[in-house]
Amino acid sequence: MIRLVAGVILFNLLSVSIPSVYGRNLVSHALKLPSEVTEFMDGNSENDDKLGTRWAVLIAGSNGYMNYRHQADVCHAYQILRKGGLKDENIIVFMYDDIASSEDNPRPGVIINNPRGDDVYKGVPKDYTGPNITINNFFAVLLGNKTALTGGSGKVVNSGPHDHIFVYYADHGGPGILGMPTGPFIFADDLIDVLKKKHASGTYKSLVFYLESCESGSIFEGLLPKGLNIYATTAANAVENSYGTYCPDDSPPLPPEYNTCLGDLYSVAWMEDSEIHNLRNETLEQQYNLVKNRTADKNYEEGSHVQQYGDLGLDKEHLFLYMGTNPGNDNSSFREENTLPSFSTPVNQRDADLLHLWHKFSKAPEGSPRKLAAQKQFIDAVSHRMHIDHSIKLIGKFLFGIEEGPKVLKAVRPAGQPLVDDWDCLKMMVRTFETHCGSLSQYGMKHMRSLANICNAGIKEQQMAEASAQACVRIPSNPWSSLQNGFSA
Ligand SMILES: *[C@@H]1O[C@H](CO)[C@@H](O)[C@H](O)[C@H]1NC(C)=O
Ligand SMILES: *[C@@H]1O[C@H](CO)[C@@H](O)[C@H](O)[C@H]1NC(C)=O
Ligand SMILES: *[C@@H]1O[C@H](CO)[C@@H](O)[C@H](O)[C@H]1NC(C)=O
Ligand SMILES: *[C@@H]1O[C@H](CO)[C@@H](O)[C@H](O)[C@H]1NC(C)=O
Ligand SMILES: *[C@@H]1O[C@H](CO)[C@@H](O)[C@H](O)[C@H]1NC(C)=O
Repeated sequence: MIRLVAGVILFNLLSVSIPSVYGRNLVSHALKLPSEVTEFMDGNSENDDKLGTRWAVLIAGSNGYMNYRHQADVCHAYQILRKGGLKDENIIVFMYDDIASSEDNPRPGVIINNPRGDDVYKGVPKDYTGPNITINNFFAVLLGNKTALTGGSGKVVNSGPHDHIFVYYADHGGPGILGMPTGPFIFADDLIDVLKKKHASGTYKSLVFYLESCESGSIFEGLLPKGLNIYATTAANAVENSYGTYCPDDSPPLPPEYNTCLGDLYSVAWMEDSEIHNLRNETLEQQYNLVKNRTADKNYEEGSHVQQYGDLGLDKEHLFLYMGTNPGNDNSSFREENTLPSFSTPVNQRDADLLHLWHKFSKAPEGSPRKLAAQKQFIDAVSHRMHIDHSIKLIGKFLFGIEEGPKVLKAVRPAGQPLVDDWDCLKMMVRTFETHCGSLSQYGMKHMRSLANICNAGIKEQQMAEASAQACVRIPSNPWSSLQNGFSA
């Protein structure tokens, strides 16, 4: 009898929902039903949205062993969602996949996200790896547009109006931008446009976006409108770095064979929290507070200020709607205060690569080829930084004068305002700078605010080109400055 009633309710809801599914593959929607019927029949009383499917998009925007932690974070997130009950067909993973098999990896085929943690690499789907990680594919996956894909597994978020979507992104970033392993960076305006399109297509009930990167608040601040049923939290506010954790020099120490950070502070904080609780009983808001607390702990000077954006009312929902829950935690009771230990020595994301190279250098045997290689890598990284910092400063002085230049470049708009009014201008400034001075690369993302301020001050392309040509006589022959991967915008 109960089965019959459930079936009738299900049928009625579907006949309402199908006409509103514009342009989607109705057949695949219909094929999804049997599992939903089972979920429905199982009568899980905590599930207040019985017809929805949980989808997740997990993306690490970097590559290289020095950025171990971003892919480790993403692998770890995958394991949590799988234990929570999400299916592989609903989890789409973007990771460059150069860590487990890296010659620098002391445990071949294994990735860990905690000094005492288990392997998180096993079983992770390789949907979009290597050069298949592109902005185009990331956006096509979010929009559920299979025909727009180029390469990769072909999995997309083929969601319907009752579904819940979780997006988690871990990488370097800068004001208004997020890194990608190759090709251009993601600019905030383009990401927000995709989220608006996704909302307009009526293909989700609500979407939660967890974002780890430096200046991650700038991706949503003044840009993410309310009313899209999107709730976002970010590792940092719009004007500060985010932090790596479980780094060399940490205490308790990493296993001695590791010389790179294993995780990021905000990321590890939300994941270690999700791992110990019954997620039917923990709300997004409760997790936000715990993660905020652990990411900006008083025990250390460093650390960032976790922020929330979008439809804040959604934070009353349980994490279960997005992440499922590990049945092993069914009896764990929730407490408002953090029970997890403080982190010991967070490392500014922008310095984590230098820390890695320094450790690689100092551990290598005296006079070995490995030591020489590490030394060269370290010097290249440092001289690239000096070149970029110096060039930007000089351009500011050429454009605005010795006194005013630094002030204009450093200006921060009031909270709640987007970084720049004209995003096309910002992208043009990036290309103009790089034409004369070489690639900004991952470190150079930090100067995005200066380039935005140049736009906000009304500087035209020709003036920027002249100032850049004056500041940079040539592009340095440094691997970081090379434009072989194309412009950053
Ligand atoms: C999907 O992408 C293709 C190729 O970019 C585009 O022509 C098409 O309009 C997109 N479909 C939808 C529904 O947006
Ligand atoms: C990229 O995607 C294509 C098509 O699915 C696949 O054949 C290729 O192996 C992928 N490349 C990498 C490096 O994963
Ligand atoms: C939770 O507690 C109940 C009752 O004590 C017990 O039967 C069940 O095995 C426990 N579940 C877990 C996952 O520990
Ligand atoms: C979960 O929350 C419900 C009420 O919201 C409560 O009755 C139940 O005891 C909680 N379970 C645990 C394991 O904390
Ligand atoms: C974090 O929580 C602890 C214990 O609940 C509290 O003592 C501490 O002040 C909080 N720290 C911050 C930064 O909110």
